[in-house]
Amino acid sequence: MSDTNEKAPKVLTTAFGIPVGDDQNSLTAGERGPVLVQDVHLLEKLGHFDRERIPERVVHAKGAGAGGYFEVTADVTNYTKAKFLSEIGKRTEVFARFSTVGGEKGSADAARDPRGFAIKFYTEEGNYDLAGNNTPVFFIRDPLKFPDFIHTQKRNPATNCKDPNMFWDFLSLTPESIHQVTILFSDRGTPATYRNMNGYSSHTYKWYIEDGDYVWVQYHFKTDQGIKNLTREEADKLSGSDPDHATRDLYEAIERGDYPSWTLEMQIMTPEQAKEYRFDILDITKVWPHGDFPTIKIGKLVLNRNPDNYFAEVEQAAFSPGNLVPGIAISPDKMLQARVFSYHDTHIHRLGPNYHLIPVNRPKNAPELNYQRDGFMRIDANGGSGPNYWPNSFGGPEPYPDALEPEFEVSGPAARTPYNHPNDYFVQAGNLYRNVMDDQARANLVGNIVSHLSGAQKRTQLRQTALFFKADPDYGSRVAERLGLDIKEVERLADMTKEERAKATEK
Ligand code: NDP
Ligand code: HEM
Repeated sequence: MSDTNEKAPKVLTTAFGIPVGDDQNSLTAGERGPVLVQDVHLLEKLGHFDRERIPERVVHAKGAGAGGYFEVTADVTNYTKAKFLSEIGKRTEVFARFSTVGGEKGSADAARDPRGFAIKFYTEEGNYDLAGNNTPVFFIRDPLKFPDFIHTQKRNPATNCKDPNMFWDFLSLTPESIHQVTILFSDRGTPATYRNMNGYSSHTYKWYIEDGDYVWVQYHFKTDQGIKNLTREEADKLSGSDPDHATRDLYEAIERGDYPSWTLEMQIMTPEQAKEYRFDILDITKVWPHGDFPTIKIGKLVLNRNPDNYFAEVEQAAFSPGNLVPGIAISPDKMLQARVFSYHDTHIHRLGPNYHLIPVNRPKNAPELNYQRDGFMRIDANGGSGPNYWPNSFGGPEPYPDALEPEFEVSGPAARTPYNHPNDYFVQAGNLYRNVMDDQARANLVGNIVSHLSGAQKRTQLRQTALFFKADPDYGSRVAERLGLDIKEVERLADMTKEERAKATEK
């Protein structure tokens, strides 16, 4: 805690600057009370305390954050007109927040969970937010499934306990999750610290230039500290002995001047390549293989400033995938489209309609000029005496057509159409198991799964193990063996369609 005494002692005041004479003894009638209602200092102090908590984030509630900068290291002006990326050597101030997903604000940093990796770039064209994860893929690819999925990661409505039945019931009925489940149950599901993990956009975004030419991109922030993970045993132990270990690690590293950094590498794909590619490049359950789309290094993210006050900066930080600057746009990825709604909406609920005025969320390097006015906690000049409507002839701010995303084609029937390649959920999960993991990683993966899945009902174990089997027979067989499941039954379920499998394991 830093010492606020500079020279002379400062006078303690109420919230309205009135000096407080006594902060240790409530005002009472007589020596022993009762307490008088006219003790305005006591009433104000308790009233404020009563309202200290704001709603925690519905997901990603536990997190740590820090400030720093992003520096461009390669010329990307052929791909994007974003000004903060316009010159090698250019630096932009950032604020980053890392988090777990499912647990509450007081939950353990070592939980098996994806980690959020959110960055706010304070650019000269306004704030650009990138809210990614430490995994390049996600469990689902349609946003309609998100609230259901999250419910299964939280607490059972009756017992209020975490529930492996809910967890695996949903995942085993949602086979597109198998790739992310395989990453989550590898040791990457328990990173050693926030400094020792990568960050991915996971989604495909669009980068475009002045004349309207565009490319599809994916972001990979590769840790310069090296990937380091916890084993299940280490994570379980830390969860009990030091639930804030990753929060403290980030803070202490920055305090001692050991600033964590990440190298930003991009995968870039032309629209023509995307059309011809063997799967839908917008599908967030898949990666773009490096062999086909090698990454190029374009920048460095460095975190070198601890927040002075956790609540002011980290808790009140609000990231939104809809905060994009000219030169960067969202893709039609359905999940990303829905996120553009969900974050701004939840921030209004969590922080209020004027959350953009909270210092960590304000556009630090661009003025905010518009006709939005009033609302709870409007703490700036509220547009002063300027006009509060557009168009006006009083010199108010005007739209700037150069900031428009170039037109793009849309076509096809308006319908609730699923992705059209339902049977390749398993290819990349299998590749990860067979080609990327070594023997130790595979053994840890199977052990991590078995320790969690063993808590679910047998029918759910069978249904989920059939998915592991479909990704790779050795993968499924090892899980089946460790759970004591009949492998013939697993194979039979693996041969079925998703619907048949659900029916066969109904009871
Ligand atoms: P590559 O061999 O070129 O890439 C393999 C990647 O896997 C490396 O980037 C490595 O990251 C990462 N990796 C290693 N262990 C794990 C793990 N336990 N969980 C998640 N990722 C891990 O092959 P491909 O590009 O063809 O991808 C093969 C598989 O690798 C994919 O199906 C996917 O599961 C995974 N992967 C792919 C990524 C991509 O963008 N192509 C990104 C991350 C994972 P690092 O270099 O940091 O060690
Ligand atoms: C946080 C919704 C998918 C990364 C949140 C929050 C909501 C939300 C409501 C809380 C925000 C807050 O209170 O400040 C959704 C929906 C999704 C989705 C509806 C899918 C349709 C994803 C995906 C990623 C992701 C795919 C990663 C690629 C994050 C991160 C945070 C977050 C990093 C925490 C941001 C912070 O540190 O404040 N999400 N999410 N989410 N989400 Fe998502």
